This record gives sequence, C-alpha cells and structure tokens, in this order.
Amino acid sequence: MPTTTKASSSKQISFLKELIDSEKEKYGDRCPAGFRKLSLLGKGGIALVWMAEVKDSKLGELGSKVALKQFPKVRGQPLDNSAIVEIETGNILFPLEVKDGCEGDTSDEFERNYALDPAEFPGMRSISKLIDTIEDRHDLWLVYEVGSACLGSLLHTVKGEFYKGERIYNVAHQSFYQALLSTPKILPALIKKIAETFVVLSELSIVHSDIKPDNILVELTPEGDIKDLKLIDFGSAFSFHNVT
Ligand SMILES: Nc1ncnc2c1ncn2[C@@H]1O[C@H](COP(=O)(O)OP(=O)(O)OP(=O)(O)O)[C@@H](O)[C@H]1O
Ligand SMILES: [Mg+2]
Repeated sequence: MPTTTKASSSKQISFLKELIDSEKEKYGDRCPAGFRKLSLLGKGGIALVWMAEVKDSKLGELGSKVALKQFPKVRGQPLDNSAIVEIETGNILFPLEVKDGCEGDTSDEFERNYALDPAEFPGMRSISKLIDTIEDRHDLWLVYEVGSACLGSLLHTVKGEFYKGERIYNVAHQSFYQALLSTPKILPALIKKIAETFVVLSELSIVHSDIKPDNILVELTPEGDIKDLKLIDFGSAFSFHNVT
C-alpha cells in the first residue's frame, strides 16, 4: 500500500553536483517528506539510489539509515514496469500485515514482515528488505534496508580509455579478490550466503533473473570475512508459475 506524501520542503543538502545534466532534469533535487538524503549510493538504468536518514518517527527509528530508490515519473507516461515488479516482489518477500493491536484503518497501522521465518530460512535476512513505498507527484520512492558495497566493486575496478583508436580496459583487482584467493574459507562462506537467498526465492517461486555482482551487496569485517550480504534489485523478477 503506497504511502502518499508531499515532497519535503525541509532543509536538504543539494546533490545536483552528483548528477549529469540529463539526470538533473529527470531526477531533480527531490526527497520525500520525513527523510534527509545523505549520499548517492548508486545509479541504475532508470532509478537512482540514495542513502537517507529518517527524520520522522512515524516512518522509522529517528536517525536510522535507509536506501531510497527514486523512480521519476515522466509526464504522460506510466511508471516503468520494473518499478511495479519490484513492489510486487517486495510484497511477496516482505508482506504488509496489520500491526498487533491495530485494525489496519490507516497506513501506519501496517508493518512489513518476513514471508518466511528467518530462523528456518536465514536467507530472508540476506535480501534487502522493502520497508515502504512512497508515491508523490514527481516520483515513486522505494524505501529499502541499506546494504554495503556491491560485490563487483569489492572484486575489481574497471577503467576504460582510448589507446591508438581502440578502447582498452584496465581491470584492477581489489583486496577482496586477493582475499578470496589466499583465504580458502571466504569463497564457501560467500556461496553459502548467496545460496541461502536462493532457498528463499525457490520456496516463494521467485526467479530473480538479474543475479550479478552489482546486485549483491557485501559487508566485510575488518579482518576481511563476510559479515553481511544483501541481494537487491528485483526489477526483472518473475514467478516461475507464470512462465509462458
Ligand atoms: N539497499 C541498498 N543499499 C545500498 N546500496 C544500494 C541499495 N540498493 C541499490 N544500491 C546501489 O545502487 C545501485 C543501483 O541499484 P539497483 O540495482 O537496485 O538499480 P537498477 O536501476 O535496478 O540497476 P540496474 O538497472 O543497473 O541493474 C546498486 O548496484 C548499488 O550499488
Ligand atoms: Mg542493479
């Protein structure tokens, strides 16, 4: 149930400098009411993802961090289908339920829970939780649990440049890549965490269909072990009961 709210007018830091001209026009400097943008987490094909903090206790614990995925509404055009798919899949993974002791009359009487008990299905905690959906005049905002760096950037950085008329790429392996090679226990731990999310998806008949390093966020301990993992980006997901 998307919450409908007005765009915030409270004092916000401008993040326009993070955007190229065409993005400035498309995404503006907007932020939904009750949140404050803190940094740009990532750019997707049709959405931007912002780290933000909760400024209204009705929306979560004050000061807690969330990831806001901004889908701008282009005038006269329907919302991109991937945004709708993300919400529908989020509703399956994290169903909206009426809070204990409430009647469900207003949107703040609902909360999102795990579809499967994380004690039995630990992979539930390794999927970035859809916390809320907010729709205002200009954007659809999906509020997610924040994850860490994407696996791709932990493994390598890729820089392209032109050399004698050809584009060449410099791939620089990062410390996590070296750690995977030198510490044998890390790879099985990584695969286990990813496989646990697949158990959840299989149980709920969901095919993610865009599994790639950029859609797997990994938090490491100072020693370089895997502390937490979050699978993100369900914009291409489908149910394997709906295969035609
Ligand atoms: N919950 C999150 N916590 C932290 N970073 C995130 C989160 N969600 C997304 N990001 C960052 O933003 C990037 C883009 O997000 P996402 O993959 O959801 O967007 P997308 O538009 O579907 O992307 P694409 O079309 O490129 O696959 C991610 O690769 C990641 O770096
Ligand atoms: Mg992605």
